[in-house]
Amino acid sequence: MIADVIVLGGGVAGLAVARELALRGVRVTLVERATLGKEASWAAAGMLAPQVEADERDEFFDFACESRDAYPAFADALREETGVDIELDCTGTLYLAFTEEDDRECLRRFECQRGAGLIVERLTAEEVRALEPNLSPRVRSALRFPRAWAVENRKLCDALARACRRAGAEILEGTEARSVSADGARFASVETSRGTLGADACVVACGAWSSRLPIKVSDGAQESPAVEPVRGQILCYAMGAGAPLVSHVVYSPRGYVVPRRDGRLLAGTTVERAGFDKSVTDEGRRAITAHAVEIAPAVEGLRQTDEWAGLRPRADDALPLLGMSTEIENLFYATGHYRNGILLAPLTGALVADLITTGETPAPLAPFSPARLARANSRAV
Ligand code: FAD
Ligand code: GLY
Repeated sequence: MIADVIVLGGGVAGLAVARELALRGVRVTLVERATLGKEASWAAAGMLAPQVEADERDEFFDFACESRDAYPAFADALREETGVDIELDCTGTLYLAFTEEDDRECLRRFECQRGAGLIVERLTAEEVRALEPNLSPRVRSALRFPRAWAVENRKLCDALARACRRAGAEILEGTEARSVSADGARFASVETSRGTLGADACVVACGAWSSRLPIKVSDGAQESPAVEPVRGQILCYAMGAGAPLVSHVVYSPRGYVVPRRDGRLLAGTTVERAGFDKSVTDEGRRAITAHAVEIAPAVEGLRQTDEWAGLRPRADDALPLLGMSTEIENLFYATGHYRNGILLAPLTGALVADLITTGETPAPLAPFSPARLARANSRAV
């Protein structure tokens, strides 16, 4: 039986797992090297939109839809536990076509999703501009995804942190995990900047930094979870709270804009391999602005109030890494969420906690086991 667990990393993934474990009576110590929820989980746009970029139905798609469907109850539970409203916005998402190629892509997506029994609507240019009058007159057609939602991800992290504390988790901010050690083939301890911590089990949830954490296997070798950082930049504008420029999340094939309840409009993004550099670049600014203006020309007249970049954690096959290490018993991974860590928070928390407390892999987690990468690596050698 696992009685105590160390969770490494206080982003949305680590917080979601820590909360679930603590709610189930497990003693949890969460180790965060800086401040909770201030990396990718803070930089994100907060969209819960599994259908918007999908052209086929696979195990990841079903996992993502199940996590999206869990959000209303998750938001209610967090509000009950902490009083924090994570601003779940169910207005829906629009996906705009501006070119013939965009039109073809929309049609493909519509037919594939309708064929799979999913909820998606096709709109004419007039219909979509009746919904959102500030969209560009150049729009040719659009898809509407009533079940592609959004949350305020910074409030989500705040709520999760409060929920963890309320459920009894110990939170060590400003504490860096420096290495993980095994005793034989079993997890033993974590060396931190404030000393050694032992527990029955450990969860690595260090986001884009997960592969930087030395994990010492008994024969002196090191296991590496193979997660790389992929930078995403965001520009933030003031819309004015009274008259939002748009009330839906709006995508095109090149960018997106996301309205916030407080009158901010986020515009994204870039998908770049730039190492651990979190700079906002001139090239990023130019591309994001052009794509946001393509969606809604009035963005050009808005005052830019902020900008930031974050590092998405991407595994080799771009799928999440959720499950037990192939080398070390009772060492678990909850990372590699890449572009969907906010969306995947409810299911990541619940199912990784199920795995740790029961020792059984819940069926929806099986495709995301670290074993798949170990197998791929051994085939590649
Ligand atoms: P992080 O939030 O990065 O947290 C990792 C934590 O681990 C950090 O707090 C870090 O300090 C800590 N840490 C690292 N190393 C150590 C160590 N050695 N010891 C202790 N602590 C350590 N997802 C969506 O679902 N919807 C979106 O709309 C969306 N938009 C995005 C837009 C952008 C621009 C970006 C960058 C990402 C977006 N994402 C989105 C993806 C989402 O942000 C990530 O998938 C998610 O935040 C990853 O969460 P995490 O907890 O794994 O990582
Ligand atoms: N899912 C949005 C992003 O990664 O930018």
